[in-house]
Amino acid sequence: MPKLIENDFPFAELSLIAERESWRKEVYRPVYYLHKWWARRLGSVFRGILLGSCLGDSEDFWECFYKKNTFENIVVFDPFMGSGVTVGEAVKLGCKAAGRDVNPVAYLACRAALSRYTDAEVLSTYRCLERTLAPRLLGYFQTRTRIGQPATVLYYFLVKVVPCPECGKEIDLFKTRIFSKNATPQKDSSARTLCPGCGAVNFTVYDAERVSCPECSLTYNPRHGNISGAEVHCDGCQYAFRLTDRMKSLEGPLPSRRYAKMILTEDGEKLYEPMNEFDGQIERQIAEEFAVISSSFPVVDIKPGYNTNQILNHNYRYWHELFSDRQLVCIRHLIEAIKGIEDPDLKLLFSCLFSGTLEFNNLFTSFKGEGTGAVRHMFSHHVLKPEMMPLEANIWGTTKSSGAFSGLFRSRVEKALAYKADPSELRLHSSKSMKVGGINQPVSVEIADSFAQFASQPKTAYLTLGDSSCIDIPDKSIDIVVTDPPFFDNVHYSQLADFFYYWLNQALEFSTTTTTRCAEEVQDTDPGLFTEKLTSVFAECSRVLNDKGLLVFTYHHARHEGWTAIHRAIRHAGLVCTRGYPIKAEMSVSMPLQQAASPIHLDLVLVCRRDKQARGNGRAIYPLRPAINVAKEQVSRLKSAGIKVSLGDAKVILMGCLLCEAHKMKNFDREERFLEELEQNLDTYVAQVISTKGEVLYKAKEPEQLRLFEEMEKYLANKERGGILTSVAHPQSASVG
Ligand SMILES: C[S@@+](CC[C@H](N)C(=O)[O-])C[C@H]1O[C@@H](n2cnc3c(N)ncnc32)[C@H](O)[C@@H]1O
Ligand SMILES: [Zn+2]
Ligand SMILES: [Zn+2]
Repeated sequence: MPKLIENDFPFAELSLIAERESWRKEVYRPVYYLHKWWARRLGSVFRGILLGSCLGDSEDFWECFYKKNTFENIVVFDPFMGSGVTVGEAVKLGCKAAGRDVNPVAYLACRAALSRYTDAEVLSTYRCLERTLAPRLLGYFQTRTRIGQPATVLYYFLVKVVPCPECGKEIDLFKTRIFSKNATPQKDSSARTLCPGCGAVNFTVYDAERVSCPECSLTYNPRHGNISGAEVHCDGCQYAFRLTDRMKSLEGPLPSRRYAKMILTEDGEKLYEPMNEFDGQIERQIAEEFAVISSSFPVVDIKPGYNTNQILNHNYRYWHELFSDRQLVCIRHLIEAIKGIEDPDLKLLFSCLFSGTLEFNNLFTSFKGEGTGAVRHMFSHHVLKPEMMPLEANIWGTTKSSGAFSGLFRSRVEKALAYKADPSELRLHSSKSMKVGGINQPVSVEIADSFAQFASQPKTAYLTLGDSSCIDIPDKSIDIVVTDPPFFDNVHYSQLADFFYYWLNQALEFSTTTTTRCAEEVQDTDPGLFTEKLTSVFAECSRVLNDKGLLVFTYHHARHEGWTAIHRAIRHAGLVCTRGYPIKAEMSVSMPLQQAASPIHLDLVLVCRRDKQARGNGRAIYPLRPAINVAKEQVSRLKSAGIKVSLGDAKVILMGCLLCEAHKMKNFDREERFLEELEQNLDTYVAQVISTKGEVLYKAKEPEQLRLFEEMEKYLANKERGGILTSVAHPQSASVG
């Protein structure tokens, strides 16, 4: 009997739910947000794909979406597990789930997220850490107010300093002397600026062009700093030079200095103050402690690569150089305490919490502003970028801090635990949504040591670390492979993951290998290599799939090469694509300039089967017309559901239909020729699929995409808070506010 997903799939309705989830993914499915990972997919999409692959074609998709399911005889496998969305969603549906990832950070984080814990043991471990660590770590952030009252520093504001090559003067690399303003300055225009004359912290408004310092009477333009783009200006001798050139004649990364701080007084008031003598004393004490431990940090090279070259150009050579002395002293205490946790599962959980905290506590973070999560983390760009005005946050944290260990325990670990116990789904009712609980199996499993153990014991998952072109799973033992392969582009997960791995490996003493990079990682800008590696993984998936098995995956690509690559990988693995459906994806952030106004915000769900099992008879009908017709119908279904379709999206939809129709020819050479011939005229065909010119979704040029993405998320979150009920309700008692 064919599966539901091979006949039809409610992609438009599911996209609406997925879109709502995309506004606040970490709130709706916190279990996948225990640790940072890149390109995390929307859980509701994967729930939908799994359900469609488990159900027979006559069953009711939506009824099953909101009821308890137990597919205990269905074994699901994800060869590109990432943060574990497929595995987690499969466990929720009562399937048996296995996953594999070549990256140890993904593997460890996934294990931590899916393992079984009791709330009591997690809390008591946390309390134990709190007792020993909190006083010590908070001690490094003690200060005194102007009038000598004790206070806690929430954030130190730092600026990088470079010596002028002409006169030797130490130049502060301020892009602007306004170091704090509101995230929505139109609502609250107040801002803080640092006086270049005397170092006083002055009040101003965010768009001021003139400030008179009350302390030293100097008048200055607060928007002018000493660095603009890469160009540095020395106000001692008026010499101008490029920072990247200057770096070549310097040893090591630029030093930084603290010039101001945001403090929390004992009355709970937040104040901005300049550095004082007390702060100087703490700095000296930290320097002494650091001198003792500085050699305890393993020396691990940052390897060159697309995502790391920029920081290498700024003379960062080793991973521990990305932190201040104060951060490293705190980190050393955290690592030692976590190493002392005896239970291996709890040790892993807290190691992941610790590692995740470091994303907000290093010299590449910056101040986002008042009225929002204060710390802009280091991965707000996919490329590691040096920051001239870093923020040093209170790493243990207070209830008023952001990005701190204690805060992330509450927002990541506690939220994940609650979700794991009763994972909910989103349900939409007109413009409102609600969480429906009481319908899923808990996301709590024992991690099996072998496939045999996994196969024989219920409520286990089989998670492994390694290359999925070589899987230790017997032939024909998997029913469904559901995955999200890497897209062939420039996000090299391992180049970024090495940042975390350096620390995770110290806490867990996991491996003697010092990098997560490896030749087997499917991530190449070269289409040939990418295709070759993806083919090996798909072929291995085809081996472990049983005869009736399905391989279903999500994909999109802006360039034709991306489609040729996927087509070849499917066909060389002995599979054919039988159905393709558009589905809501993340908002796309890496987009060639010319497509910026037409970003792809849809993924394709591609359903594949063994070549021999699939229908199709090598027919002679030219596949173009049928493909255009199916694509048109899919676009109109999306539009009737109120989903905008850009030109980029329409192209993705059409490519999916073209692949499925082409594969009906069942003749690789003819399929190849057909897809090749298409390329020049693709835009004409896309125009036939989408009658309008496609909708312009976001008008932004590429450099603004990421910022726009952040702002969009904020905007959507606000919009949602205005009109959405977020209570957890059981289906029987479901009510919509
Ligand atoms: C697009 S991500 C998957 C993201 C995942 N769907 C999620 O929501 O988190 C692709 C993953 O494939 C992994 N990967 C790349 N090459 C691999 C290989 N040869 N074997 C196993 N995993 C691999 C990467 O480490 C990455 O985690
Ligand atoms: Zn100078
Ligand atoms: Zn002054």
